[in-house]
This record gives sequence, structure tokens and C-alpha cells, in this order.
Amino acid sequence: SSGGDAGSGGDSGSGDTITVGFAQTGSESGWRSANTESMKEAFSAENGFDLVFNAADNDTAAQIAAVRDFINQGVDAIVLAPIVEDGWDDVLQEAADAGIPVILEDRTVSASDDLYASWVGLDFEKEGEMAGAWAAEQYGAEDTKMVVLEGTTGSAPANDRAAGFDAAIEGTSIEKIDSQTGDFTRDGGKTVMEGFLQKYGADGIDLVYAHNDDMALGAIEAIEAAGAVPGEDIKIISIDAVKDGMQALVDGKINFIVECNPLLGELAAGLVKDVLAGEDVEKEVYVEDASFTQEQAAEVIDDRAY
Ligand code: AHR
Repeated sequence: SSGGDAGSGGDSGSGDTITVGFAQTGSESGWRSANTESMKEAFSAENGFDLVFNAADNDTAAQIAAVRDFINQGVDAIVLAPIVEDGWDDVLQEAADAGIPVILEDRTVSASDDLYASWVGLDFEKEGEMAGAWAAEQYGAEDTKMVVLEGTTGSAPANDRAAGFDAAIEGTSIEKIDSQTGDFTRDGGKTVMEGFLQKYGADGIDLVYAHNDDMALGAIEAIEAAGAVPGEDIKIISIDAVKDGMQALVDGKINFIVECNPLLGELAAGLVKDVLAGEDVEKEVYVEDASFTQEQAAEVIDDRAY
């Protein structure tokens, strides 16, 4: 694997502080805030790290530039949550040439897996499948007009959650009448939903599939402003299970949520240490996700960590 001997030029010897550059996507969602917090906690000085943090505000060019900066600074390791899947080959090759190992967290890239040491995250396609299977079971037998609020175009979760969901509803009476990106933000979800409501009317939409909770929360605002009742007149399914999403589920405004666990910091920090120590690591480390109906959400909401 590529990671074993990488980083040997750095000052990561025993007892030394490990300098890690972390290129985060931005701060688009509640999920992202929880993920950033988890990463900052795990990559703390107490745990032997000096963290150089960059959030790219969802701008891929800026994120590539940040990774290049980390390479120029000569950090010991780079952790990357890639905004989109494509376009990483060159800068990952530059990191490899400089002997700096890269650990991906959360999202994946289309580049060859020789160019990074490991990845830790969630199975986005399975999340989509779980959401789609529930939709199929609940609404698949009757004519159901669905609109989709997609995540950031070209991102792994947007691609995979669409594919997983579509496969699960195949052959049912759920019809996707429209699908647009809301960029994983609350404002984006609201704006796109307003457009859908104008185009189809509240009566013309039965179901919203939102690729994350924040967009579902934005859609709720748009639906209420249009005089309809979210969760009843228009059903909503989303992904993440962050606090605000779970509260909306308990309140009956969302109908089903598939979890996407943002607490990846400890696993990512462990991978960085192992890779720098020359140990063999798994190329892919998957974290399990749960799912919640309204009743299940009410039972667990007080004990959720994020
Ligand atoms: O990559 C994970 C996704 O990114 C989360 O589902 C979404 O909320 C975040 O912005």
C-alpha cells in the first residue's frame, strides 16, 4: 500500500508532535459542524497532534489549493474530506511524490486508491438504499409524485445516495418528477423546494427525498410557507439524523431519516498514527448507520451525541 513508507521525511518520530493538515469541505450543514468538532477533538494537542485546519467553503479549487499548501508546508500527513469525487489525481500524486500520506475521511474520490493510504466513512449508497426501501414499503403501492433535493453535484454522497435510492424504488409506483441540487444547505433546500412548489403546486407533490437533513429543514419552511403541512400533505425522507433533523422527525414534519454518522475523528486520527508508524491499515473503514421512524426518533433523541 502507498501509506507505509510515506511521511518518513517528516518529524513524526516517537514522542514528536504530528502535524496534520485537514482539508474540510466547508461548513454547509449541521452534519459538517459535528464532523469538524469530532475531528478537532481527535486531532488535539493532547493527543499529540498539531492540526492545521482549512475549510474550503464548498469550493473545489480552493480545497485543492489548500492540499497543495499542506504539501508545501511539509506536514506529516494530510486528511481530506473531498468536496467532489473527480479532479484529485494530480494533487494526490504530488502528495505521494512528497512522501506525505493522505487519509480520506467522509467522502470518496474517483482517483486510484494507490494515491491515498486509507479512507474512513459511511456507505452512502446503502444509506440511499435504506431510504428508498422505506419509501417503497410506505408509498410504493400508490401513485406517488416525488421530488429530490440533491447534495452537492459531483460529490460522493449525492451520487451514491441517488443511485441507492433509485435502485430501491425501481418497479414501484413512486415517480421522480424532478431533481435538483440544494448543495446540502438549508437555504439551498428551501430555494429549490420553493421552485418545485411553484412549478407543480403543493397538490402535485407527494414526497420529498432530501440527500441531507439541512435541505429537508429548508424544504419544511418552503412547504409551510405554501400553506401545506410537511410530513402529512407532503412526506419527507432525509439522511443524516442530526439534532434538528431528529427534532423535526419527532415533531412529525419529517417521516423517516437514515443516519450518517459524523463522528469520524477518532478513527481518522488512529489511521494517521498507524500509517505514520508504518503499520498496515485497511484501505476502507466503514462506519455503520442506523435509521429512524418518528417513533424510534422519539425514543433516542435525548441520548444522541450530535
Ligand atoms: O458527506 C456527508 C454529507 O455532507 C452529509 O450528509 C451532509 O449533511 C454533509 O454536508
